[in-house]
Amino acid sequence: MVRDRGCGEIRESDMGKNLTLCGWVFKRRDHGGLIFIDLRDRSGVLQVVFSPDVSGKAHELAHDLRSEFVISVSGKIRKRPEGTENPNMPTGAVEMYVNKLDVLNESSPLPFTIEDAADASEMLRLKHRYLDLRRPEMQRNLIIRHKVTKVMRDYLDEKGFLEIETPILTKSTPEGARDYLVPSRLNPGHFYALPQSPQIFKQILMVSGLEKYFQIVKCFRDEDLRADRQPEFTQVDLEMSFAGRKDVIGNIESMIKRVFKDVLDTELQVPFERLSFYDSMERFGNDKPDLRFGLELREMADLAEKGSFKVFIDALQSGGRVKAINGKGMASLSRKEIDMLTEEAQSFGAKGLAWIKVKNGFESPIAKFFPEEILRQMAQRLNAEEGDLMLFVADKGKIVHDVLSRMRLELGKRLNLITTGYRFVWITDFPLLEWNDEEGRFEAMHHPFTSPMDEDIEKLFSVDLSGSQLSTSNFQLLTSIRAKAYDIVLNGYEIGGGSIRIHRRDLQRKMFDLLRISEEDARMKFGFLLDALEYGAPPHGGIALGLDRLVMIMVGASSIRDVIAFPKTQKAFCLMSGTPSVVEPKQLRELYIKLNLPEV
Ligand code: AMO
Ligand code: AMP
Repeated sequence: MVRDRGCGEIRESDMGKNLTLCGWVFKRRDHGGLIFIDLRDRSGVLQVVFSPDVSGKAHELAHDLRSEFVISVSGKIRKRPEGTENPNMPTGAVEMYVNKLDVLNESSPLPFTIEDAADASEMLRLKHRYLDLRRPEMQRNLIIRHKVTKVMRDYLDEKGFLEIETPILTKSTPEGARDYLVPSRLNPGHFYALPQSPQIFKQILMVSGLEKYFQIVKCFRDEDLRADRQPEFTQVDLEMSFAGRKDVIGNIESMIKRVFKDVLDTELQVPFERLSFYDSMERFGNDKPDLRFGLELREMADLAEKGSFKVFIDALQSGGRVKAINGKGMASLSRKEIDMLTEEAQSFGAKGLAWIKVKNGFESPIAKFFPEEILRQMAQRLNAEEGDLMLFVADKGKIVHDVLSRMRLELGKRLNLITTGYRFVWITDFPLLEWNDEEGRFEAMHHPFTSPMDEDIEKLFSVDLSGSQLSTSNFQLLTSIRAKAYDIVLNGYEIGGGSIRIHRRDLQRKMFDLLRISEEDARMKFGFLLDALEYGAPPHGGIALGLDRLVMIMVGASSIRDVIAFPKTQKAFCLMSGTPSVVEPKQLRELYIKLNLPEV
């Protein structure tokens, strides 16, 4: 049963050799006389041939082979007959003439063929993940993932980073999602939280003088799931002492450059582009812009206010904004198609979508509200030419950006503007704080340990927080504070984020005050970090990359589920193992837990 090589490795240089190979029956063509089997193992596929004269008993046995039987074959490697080569297969010039066949195991009929599994429903694929993972494409994804982490480990090791494990049974870390909780049997009524990130521990490692830490680590977040979000996912997490933004960013750029070179043989240009948060929002409507195409958002308030379209005027008067994008060549859309576009904008949260066609002048139900000259200026600002469609949204700034950024992506796809390739961009100069209207308090835009810019620290200390109400000027002062935070974005996905941290106890205290985290609460949640900051914490900072997202983009997949061996569904369910599941009453009793389920 011992095999000599991998099926996918056989080449013309192996002609004439007698080899033994093992693998799964991938495709099978039984011509009665000759039987062809595409034999598959992890390395690839090789055509093996059973002929009545050469293969003898093996030929008889081969009639009974079915898809995914596991077999071992021995025989001579030969050149394929003229005209039967397959240039699409790396092994396409050769084949094996089998003289010995062993069936190592049989297989039940499959719920889907491995070859066409990509077309099977994802539910079915996930239920039978062991079969889904037999697909060469999925194996390639996992191999690339392995290579990426291998290159990263080597790189970080060379640069003096130490891989250090941090606890999985731990305390809540504030990263903005819900925690997964684990009850403690030995401490009744007490719970561990699974880490949303190793944030606090990696900072403590800096206080401990380890200087450069990294970890390729599972993180857990109980949040609404999407194609690029899983409840458990992997971060490439790192932290450095005596380092500024330049050091963290520089390290990540060289590491990613090495990864793309070594894994994809793709040369990336460093440094990556930089864009301030403000510019990103203004030009693209979000903080993870896909820079592979233009279609940028343009300010229209100054022009809109020169007309008499009530929707625009009302929005501006109530402190809102009017912005627009240019649907290139879309003036040919029918009313019905524009209505559909409007519905789409509405599904993104817009009240409506105003439009002006540049077509023999200007064609639009709202054109009559604007002097011709203003319409011309609108077109000029959007670079709209004959045949284009200008699309406007008027609303609160946040909604305008949200809707237009999504319309931009949608149109980018529809107009085929999205080129291939990798466009990295660092988003910098984030605001430190974000106002949460519902809770009536500020939240940390990144996390509460992120340092303000040096020049803004004074602003922070100048605000007296003892009163319950913030004055408008103080509110504005606080929202103008910028953070030493940075996100890295690739092709419209946030693939990482980090910051320089607060290492001074008084500043951290002030930050908690701002976030209305009481002394008592802070003690309970992060007391150990606050204590650690008392004892000579060095300046430090770091970042975490979302490994799943990075690999997803590298392999060209559309969901991180395709680069995770055993992912969960949108409902955080593992269809293969049937997780989560109910547990024995005895287990609950041991944990002093009583269920109080809602009635269904
Ligand atoms: P952040 O919360 O930005 O930062 O997370 C870092 C990166 O992890 C990825 N990511 C996810 N990937 C898949 N599924 C999820 N549910 C998910 N959530 C996040 C993203 C994101 O950019 N402690 C900080 C890092 C730091 O400050 O050093 C942190 O966790 O790609
Ligand atoms: P109405 O006056 O509501 O019939 O709207 C006239 C046009 O303006 C329609 O095309 C609407 O889709 C569009 N519209 C309505 N509200 C908005 C808005 N907030 N922003 C942009 N366009 C809007």
